[in-house]
Amino acid sequence: MNINPLTTTAQALVVPGKGLLAMDESTGTCNARFAALGLPETIEARSAYRELLVTTPGLGEGISGAILFDETIRQHTAAGVSLVEILQQAGIIPGIKVDLGAHELAGFPGEQVTEGLDGLRPRLTEYAALGARFAKWRAVLTIGHDRPSRAGIAANAHALARYAALCQAAGLVPIVEPEVLLTGSHSLARCAAVTEEVLHEVFAQLRMQGVALEGMLLKPSMVLAGADCPKQPTTAQVADATVACLLRTVPAAVPGVAFLSGGQSPEEATRHLAAMHERFAGRLPWALTFSFGRALQQPALEIWAGQAANVAAAQQALLERVRGNMVAITAGSAV
Ligand code: 13P
Repeated sequence: MNINPLTTTAQALVVPGKGLLAMDESTGTCNARFAALGLPETIEARSAYRELLVTTPGLGEGISGAILFDETIRQHTAAGVSLVEILQQAGIIPGIKVDLGAHELAGFPGEQVTEGLDGLRPRLTEYAALGARFAKWRAVLTIGHDRPSRAGIAANAHALARYAALCQAAGLVPIVEPEVLLTGSHSLARCAAVTEEVLHEVFAQLRMQGVALEGMLLKPSMVLAGADCPKQPTTAQVADATVACLLRTVPAAVPGVAFLSGGQSPEEATRHLAAMHERFAGRLPWALTFSFGRALQQPALEIWAGQAANVAAAQQALLERVRGNMVAITAGSAV
């Protein structure tokens, strides 16, 4: 395996001042977000929305890569240009979500394992031919009384590592995404302990499967208290807990860490990212940036509301979120 092109791509994705746009919602997830706003759950509406996102003027100023979904990587604008081409012209690297979603883990009620390893090799080859240069696979871990179990953590870490190895063999940079969900009433300390355990297992499995750390990126959740926890931490406490966890688990050879937003409000996600930069600038071995979905898109989606007349305003809202996060990862000043 030639890891140099992989390393070049991985480094380009976390180039200083830029982050990633996660726009890889599956059809089900995209429909659910549309339904919540009373928008039609049709392929036409999804296509119009994805076209709005990628044609945002100036998007490439702060976005290094965009994660697409199977439907989207094959999509063309109303004018007949492929979305992949639009992204490339804007200097944005196209990527693709390749997992097939989280499903119930047999024998462990309430826990999930991500599926999609069967047949992954030819799918990766096809995506690379369609223009993808990196991929994403999301594992989901839920915190509960005695969850996640060792079995749940091991199964998900193993799948992430198998996926990552297959990606590198196909010439794609794997983004390894173990998400510890925000759902629950757990404390910040419990989330820190679980996230640390998960990341240790993920990197052990990556090593076992021979994944080149220089040619991958990590996409973790921030260390947060559960959404229903009565004692919510300060921004500085979240920043400190998250960075401490990463420093203990993520080898310095990994070029970058790009956070998911995981249901935080757009402002909150940006504030937490900014605080990490403010408090640890110059002391971290990897780039620290964003790979947000909802925290970049939600305001734009709400403003668009399915109306062609709102496209420019929605694109402006997307750009504002991108710029806020660019400030967070460069100057590190809060939004
Ligand atoms: P959120 O930022 O909305 O969590 O989405 C990121 C992502 O890629 C989820 O898999």
